[in-house]
Amino acid sequence: MNLVVAGGGYVGLATAVGFARHGHQVQVVDIDPERAQRLREGALPFVEPSLAEELTRTVASGALTVHGGYPDSFGPADLAFVCVDTSPTEAGDLDSSRIVAAVDDLARSVEGYLRVVIRSTVNPGTARMIEERLRAHERPATVMVNPEFLREGTALLDFDFPSRRVVGGCDAEALDMLCSLYAFSDAPLIRTDAATAELIKLAVNASLAVRVSMANEIAYLADSAGADVKSVLAGVGADPRIGMDYLSPGLGFGGSCLPKDLNALRATSRAFGVPSALFDGAANTNGAAIERVVGRTLGLLDGRETRRVCVVGLAFKPESDSIRSSQSIRLVQALMGERLSVSVYDPLATANARAVLGDTVEYLDSLETAGEDHDVIIEVHPGTTRGVRLHPGCTVLDGLARPVCHVD
Ligand SMILES: NC(=O)c1ccc[n+]([C@@H]2O[C@H](COP(=O)([O-])OP(=O)(O)OC[C@H]3O[C@@H](n4cnc5c(N)ncnc54)[C@H](O)[C@@H]3O)[C@@H](O)[C@H]2O)c1
Repeated sequence: MNLVVAGGGYVGLATAVGFARHGHQVQVVDIDPERAQRLREGALPFVEPSLAEELTRTVASGALTVHGGYPDSFGPADLAFVCVDTSPTEAGDLDSSRIVAAVDDLARSVEGYLRVVIRSTVNPGTARMIEERLRAHERPATVMVNPEFLREGTALLDFDFPSRRVVGGCDAEALDMLCSLYAFSDAPLIRTDAATAELIKLAVNASLAVRVSMANEIAYLADSAGADVKSVLAGVGADPRIGMDYLSPGLGFGGSCLPKDLNALRATSRAFGVPSALFDGAANTNGAAIERVVGRTLGLLDGRETRRVCVVGLAFKPESDSIRSSQSIRLVQALMGERLSVSVYDPLATANARAVLGDTVEYLDSLETAGEDHDVIIEVHPGTTRGVRLHPGCTVLDGLARPVCHVD
């Protein structure tokens, strides 16, 4: 098929490269011409295993082309995927202005009947709103929703082997066409209406956020009760009705999706006057995770002349350069708010962190002397301080604010 993908970010590239690898002709368009140029050269603006290689390969083979800005015409396209960013508004729901702008441009530059597939995460009702807008402009079109569930770090693997696919819309022929694109996969398919598909995506991420906060609350309790946190959670997760996924306690959840989508679900609930106490609680617990670590750190520094703290791990998860909604960055800012001298260590994420934290912190190249130079080290990414030589006055805390003792 001939496919157009609007948005050359994380989701757009995984989608475009994913379909190009399955034999389709894909045109990607991004409004950022510099990004488009770098993508044509195979350079990604983020770290993602094997995506850069596959992008280079599919561009070289001619299966994938990248436009910087919308061309006058893409020619006829079977499906046009919208993968642009949807940042949160002040009210907590998702800003759909970029979706609207992308669809307006697609409506001008795709020839013939326009089959829009929204892959971005959107507020329930967005597809209907877009369809009404296109109808008002008398543009023959249909709008479907096909949310993306990939995890950063395994994007292409998740594209090929998802746990399920969700497609929503009301034009049966267009939905058939979209479903046939996924014929290579035997993942269960949930075929539904657009609003349902939109809400499934928000509900999934909000539920994952609840699990992380639940794991943290259980861990805090285990810690206070003198129980072994790891074993308690292993015992909980071994129950097949619960499972182990996202039951890892620590500084809480961050990243480009969980906090944003949790808040969008809460905002949607508020708009409908529906209670969301459980989801509100998950957000509160996530905030409290930072207060807990700051409180314990201040307790350890009480009465000391030096107040030097090192935070190890800045990206929202290990092996990533993404600091979007990173709890670790929030922790650094909270520690600086307490007038502590803060150093940070995360080689992969240093460049992105520098753009946010500037020169307010010291960026370490290695942890070799961290144990001598700091009073407290906070190990946000588990295991990253293993092997660091500690001087007697230095304590290592984990993301739950418990002292860490690495036994090799
Ligand atoms: N990153 C993830 O892990 C992930 C996973 C699932 C879903 N999502 C959702 O997918 C959407 C995209 O996320 P992302 O992480 O890929 O965002 P991103 O910020 O990495 O990329 C978005 C890209 O869209 C481009 N863009 C903006 N407006 C445009 C327009 N009108 N036309 C063409 N390009 C335009 C931007 O220049 C940018 O390159 C969001 O709604 C997000 O919530 C993200």
